[in-house]
Amino acid sequence: MMHPFRCELCGETYVGSYPAERCPFCGAAGKYLLPAAEWMKYGKVEMCKQSYEDCQKALDLELSNYAYYKCATACAESQVTETIFKRFMKQELEHAEVFAKAMGIALPPEPQVSCAGNDVKNMEESNIHENMAIKFYIEAARRAPEPRIRQIFRAFAEVENEHLVTLNVYK
Ligand SMILES: [Fe+2]
Ligand SMILES: [Fe+2]
Repeated sequence: MMHPFRCELCGETYVGSYPAERCPFCGAAGKYLLPAAEWMKYGKVEMCKQSYEDCQKALDLELSNYAYYKCATACAESQVTETIFKRFMKQELEHAEVFAKAMGIALPPEPQVSCAGNDVKNMEESNIHENMAIKFYIEAARRAPEPRIRQIFRAFAEVENEHLVTLNVYK
């Protein structure tokens, strides 16, 4: 028997016998995959100036990581690294969309980002980017007064942390 689920973070839908272990789209932990009937639609979030600035910075980070992983995917030297980069690329784009939606703005065009021509270097670079994002998201979650903004930063800090772990295993 298949059941409809929906991600509380990115809003993507998932149909399966059980909730997925993680959102297949944004990578959020399984606890954010809700039975469709319980799902609540989030649009623009009323937020303070600090939170808005934090979301803006996060949006820039996500878009630049998206563009970096896109380049790394195109340059990947093996099927394994291509698989990892490709999934992370898509997850970062989902994250960017979540921040833009919360801010009530359209997704800005992706920045021009270049990457190294080899996997080892690209994995190292990605490591640095992910580390920066994690630190910043934890900080932003801590100071955000809005529950939804805290939720987004917390959930994505976890996802970026898993990116880091995966990169370290496969580098
Ligand atoms: Fe999701
Ligand atoms: Fe991300």
